[in-house]
Amino acid sequence: MRIGEIAAREDFFGVLASTLQEGWSAWAGHSVDIGYTRSEGGQSWLVHPLLSVVLRADAHREVRGFAVEEFRNTTVPWRRAPQWVLGTLLGRRIAVRAVARKRLWVRPGLPQARSLLVIPGGRTIRQLDFANGISRVFAKHGFSRDGIARETKVRTKPGPFLRITAHDPAFGWYEEPLVRGRTLPRVTDPVARRRYERAALEQLGGWLTTHAESIDRRAYLDLVCGRISDRVAQLEGTTPGLDVAALRELVPRLRERGSGSGTIEVSQTHGDFQAGNVLVDVRRDKPFIIDWEYSGLRTRDFDLFVYDVGARSPEGLASRLRRLLEIGPGPAVGDLRRAWGYTRPTARDLAVHLLEELDRALEEAASGPFHTTPAGLRMLVQELGSLAASGWPPLRPQS
Ligand SMILES: Nc1ncnc2c1ncn2[C@@H]1O[C@H](COP(=O)(O)OP(=O)(O)O)[C@@H](O)[C@H]1O
Ligand SMILES: [Mg+2]
Repeated sequence: MRIGEIAAREDFFGVLASTLQEGWSAWAGHSVDIGYTRSEGGQSWLVHPLLSVVLRADAHREVRGFAVEEFRNTTVPWRRAPQWVLGTLLGRRIAVRAVARKRLWVRPGLPQARSLLVIPGGRTIRQLDFANGISRVFAKHGFSRDGIARETKVRTKPGPFLRITAHDPAFGWYEEPLVRGRTLPRVTDPVARRRYERAALEQLGGWLTTHAESIDRRAYLDLVCGRISDRVAQLEGTTPGLDVAALRELVPRLRERGSGSGTIEVSQTHGDFQAGNVLVDVRRDKPFIIDWEYSGLRTRDFDLFVYDVGARSPEGLASRLRRLLEIGPGPAVGDLRRAWGYTRPTARDLAVHLLEELDRALEEAASGPFHTTPAGLRMLVQELGSLAASGWPPLRPQS
């Protein structure tokens, strides 16, 4: 997540400072203090809004290189040249200093600080330690630790991900190997990108098939809708910008469209499957699926649905959903039909996926001290509202 997006919905600096103070104290084994002003003294750390990282001005070349990599590579053709040049300039030591205005002052200074890169995220803050090849993920101060609990539950068993090597029993942090790679949208060679994408989809497909089970449809819908209404009640009145009335109209409508007798196939889904959560280890020529903090029991095809319609960027979602209903899955997932039985979702499947998506977005909105509704949830409700206004889903289930 970009620092700008995070700052739009929460106290970015306050959460960053308190998380690092707590996390670094536990990591260093003694109390570490973090201040905002030079007069307090200490080791200075730069907050870099363009690269969305926190680092030392004298960070090692490898650390700066990693930070600019995510920024420098883009698959948007017209941006490629300017972003590459700007990224290269930004990686120069002097530019790191000039652009990053805000600082944190750390007392006592951390040893090996020049080898560390801090990446702020949605519910966690990740520290990459290039000297030891370890990535340590801290739960953000004041945020739910459910995400780390889930990552730990899933990623201590074998599967299509990096194994967690150590964790806090109270889920305040975990550790995993550091991968010197880049996420799928930053792989600029389209042939290689397609190959890694396929490999990631196949890995996930295998995992979902292995963990699939059938459960009673009505019981499952009760569970999802129960969670949704609890979260709406929790957020109502405290989260500005949430269209509670629209949600109260939408949910029963989706539920009715998704209902029926018999069973439904579910699995241990990833929950946030998107290209940005595929990390490619270029040297080992291998993709890893990262970010399992929303993993949980959902319909087996939920992850593919999210990937196919780009549900994590809800802008324009309504028209992509119409397209999915009318034409079927896009090319990236369409040819998985035979590989593991992913077929074009029916209107009923789609209604259930949309309830699951609302449930996930509401969980996110309820998981931290936000001063406004996260943009993803706001837009999702808007897009689904526009679908409903055009008569979808129809009130009575059709055969
Ligand atoms: N094991 C790792 N080694 C190196 N970088 C990583 C690793 N895991 C994640 N990252 C980097 O951190 C970023 C955010 O990680 P992610 O788990 O997706 O958290 P978020 O919840 O913030 O999206 C990724 O886009 C990737 O650049
Ligand atoms: Mg992610």
